[in-house]
Amino acid sequence: MEPSKKDFLRIDDFGLDELRHILALAREQKPLARRHELPHSHPNRQLACVFAKPSLRTRVSFEIAMRQLGGGSLFITDKEIGMGTRESVKDVARVLSRFVDAIMIRWFDQGEVDELAEHATVPVINGLTDLLHPCQVMADIMTVEEHLGSIDGKNVVMVGDGNNLANSWLNAASVFPFDFTLACPEGYEPDESILQAADRAGASFQILNDPLAAVEGAHVIYSDAFYSMGQEEEAKQRRADFAPFRLTTELLAVADDRHIVLHCLPAHRGEEITDEVIDGPHSVVYDEAENRMHAQRAIIAHFMK
Ligand code: CP
Ligand code: NVA
Repeated sequence: MEPSKKDFLRIDDFGLDELRHILALAREQKPLARRHELPHSHPNRQLACVFAKPSLRTRVSFEIAMRQLGGGSLFITDKEIGMGTRESVKDVARVLSRFVDAIMIRWFDQGEVDELAEHATVPVINGLTDLLHPCQVMADIMTVEEHLGSIDGKNVVMVGDGNNLANSWLNAASVFPFDFTLACPEGYEPDESILQAADRAGASFQILNDPLAAVEGAHVIYSDAFYSMGQEEEAKQRRADFAPFRLTTELLAVADDRHIVLHCLPAHRGEEITDEVIDGPHSVVYDEAENRMHAQRAIIAHFMK
């Protein structure tokens, strides 16, 4: 299947068939990659990985995925390129496009990533912005389907902040037929434009302030940090505001018996999730972390010529 767009910037840019095609590729390649038997479908292709924020999973999984496809990768921090300060976003886009075959970027402002994509002639892949984290949610859906079968009709509940992950889950609920609930404190709701887009797309979602009511009967329970990268100064206030939104064994007692627990990581153990939950029998967080590599390799393979 040919990509319908040059870039992978947000999940709801794509239809269900194309997203399912990417996930099927990820599933098919996973055992081959684990056995080091994946054919090199993209020999000598190069991926630029641009970072303005820290990373373990995104950096390592993208760089290794590109090598597994037979190509190479390059880690670039914003300190070196100064996109938008040392030179314009447009010039960075045009120059990088002459050197590499795709750009993965982790950035603050989604608008600048959109601008980069507009001027780049190679695919741009969103590796997290303040607004979105689409690659993470593709890996999350892959993980849900490995453990529970199709995500269709499942009840996915995120407990915590209406942040980039909540926004990308709302984007996903606009395309895949599952029910999404966010339980967040008042004032921490998802982005208004994302909520409106989900509404227009007919997504099945609700925003609640009561974690217990949200988790009741849930098949998938999702957690993320109370404060995101760039919000460190708000940590104290957020710890207080989010205290009732911690994943504990007691809270999860009302979930479906077969529920699974996901966390995009990094986790602040004891803060948004207890050790008992993250290390417990329902947790699939390390499968989820591994699936970053498999889902993203499929994304690279789908979009890179
Ligand atoms: N989940 C995730 O994106 O992890 P990193 O910040 O370590 O890349
Ligand atoms: N919401 C978190 C996700 C980290 C992977 C952040 O943006 O820092």
